[in-house]
Amino acid sequence: LPSRVRTICCIGAGYVGGPTCSVIALKCPHIKVIIVDVNPLRIDAWNSEKLPVFEPGLDDVVRRCRGRNLFFSTDIDAGIREADLIFVSVNTPTKTSGVGKGFAADLHYVEACTRRIASVATSSKIIVEKSTVPCRTAASMRTILESNTSETEDGKQITFQILSNPEFLAEGTAIRDLYNPDRVLIGSLDTREGKMAAHALREVYENWVDGSKIYETGLWSSELSKLAANALLAQRISSINSLSAICEATGADVSEVAHACGLDARIGPKFLKASIGFGGSCFQKDILNLVYLSESLGLTEVAAYWHQVILMNEYQKSRFARKVVQTLFNTITMKKVAVLGFAFKKDTGDTREAPAITLCKSFRQEKAFISIYDPKVPREQILLDLTEPGVVDDFEAVRAQVTIAPSPEEACRDAEAVVICTEWDEFAQKAEDEWRGIYATMKKPAFVFDGRGVVDAQTLRKIGFRVHTVGKGPQIIDPIWA
Ligand code: UDX
Ligand code: UDX
Ligand code: ADP
Repeated sequence: LPSRVRTICCIGAGYVGGPTCSVIALKCPHIKVIIVDVNPLRIDAWNSEKLPVFEPGLDDVVRRCRGRNLFFSTDIDAGIREADLIFVSVNTPTKTSGVGKGFAADLHYVEACTRRIASVATSSKIIVEKSTVPCRTAASMRTILESNTSETEDGKQITFQILSNPEFLAEGTAIRDLYNPDRVLIGSLDTREGKMAAHALREVYENWVDGSKIYETGLWSSELSKLAANALLAQRISSINSLSAICEATGADVSEVAHACGLDARIGPKFLKASIGFGGSCFQKDILNLVYLSESLGLTEVAAYWHQVILMNEYQKSRFARKVVQTLFNTITMKKVAVLGFAFKKDTGDTREAPAITLCKSFRQEKAFISIYDPKVPREQILLDLTEPGVVDDFEAVRAQVTIAPSPEEACRDAEAVVICTEWDEFAQKAEDEWRGIYATMKKPAFVFDGRGVVDAQTLRKIGFRVHTVGKGPQIIDPIWA
């Protein structure tokens, strides 16, 4: 087994593998990093000036390392052969059919990769699970590798050690998170070889991460910790969102409630921002995984507990959509609704599980015309996200009902309502005069629905807008004082 890592191969050039291994290449100039993918378009993009992933700071990292010790390639087999350590960062979507449909992770990309490694490796390797995977995936990987191993050219047995090293970066802040992680988690088997492999990976991170932040655990703890961390984060959002409903009904202000709670050091201030619901590729998928795992272990109550976090998120999205329709006199049929922001959060072009998708789909069902502006999401991606798969002629129907605007101003022209779905800085920083300009071009009464709590409702009300902010109730004035 390699005791020192000289060459790393990363299988899967996506949101996780790409940024993570680019930063490793930057911080470890003595290590050669090869990122491979089955998708030639993705690899071409990584090798071009326009990277396939928008992430603040990523361009700079790639520019500094590409061609030096960082390479992007479709030659998966060559990458595998050359590497001492292989990161498996392929996608693990939720299964859409078969056993565990809608809950379990589809591991066939992970399995395909594992089989590929077993069949082409000509030397012993450390294999690292980077993708979020259900518990005990490492065990399946080990079984596949051990049942398919061969010998090296000089007749020695090839061995593999499997590590779990989940990635905790958040999109939009990936580079910052990678430079300065809260922790690096390395799970290994509790054997001499397992510990040696963990040590080799620890040495890679120690090129820039303080050793005290690197936490070694068993394989299963590491796998479960990734699901648990995401579940706990999502749970905080569902919790504050559930309180936002109470605030709206009573006149309390969810941002004051969140601030007041967050001042308790045991609770802490982060991740308590009420919203139209969480999105992103991880939270929902990982919780569904946890629910499936609990069910398979016969832990029905545990499954129901975590499932509620997802159900609350769905409720928050549909509650907000209903609010829009109700406020616009119970119908948005043929009305123009402007949607500002489509990405699942700011500073990313990613739309996976974006709450804006759910919202726009319900506006479509209400037969509204939707005009969408997002600074980073490509037009085709938005249209694709809003097209119902398998519905005849929906491709054309979406294009008749949805337009993609080049600016917020264009999106809002002649609209009856503005719906803010993503907390982009440019929406939060919009000047009063700009809002005034938008107001002038809209139908009256002009409504703003702020799903992210980013605009100053008072300023907008002064202009003439009618404003609804998530988690803020109408100011109920006690009749005694009125
Ligand atoms: C609680 C709140 O902490 C306090 O702010 C509020 O004013 C009153 O309610 P208290 O009930 O006195 O205080 O004790 P606390 O330390 O919160 O513990 C409550 C229960 O939770 C105990 O049974 C404790 O054993 C349990 N607990 C606490 C856990 O099981 N795990 C933990 O990590 C913390
Ligand atoms: C998440 C985890 O944060 C990260 O550690 C893990 O590796 C991957 O999943 P990501 O999905 O990229 O990262 O973004 P995150 O910042 O966690 O936001 C997820 C969703 O929650 C977004 O839609 C965001 O808008 C929403 N959110 C976040 C809230 O609604 N309120 C908050 O207070 C925080
Ligand atoms: P994540 O957010 O987990 O990084 P992505 O979907 O962005 O997920 O990236 C996963 C990448 O893995 C995709 O670019 C996909 O083409 C690639 N991939 C999937 N299966 C394989 C495989 N067997 N070999 C190489 N690359 C793969």
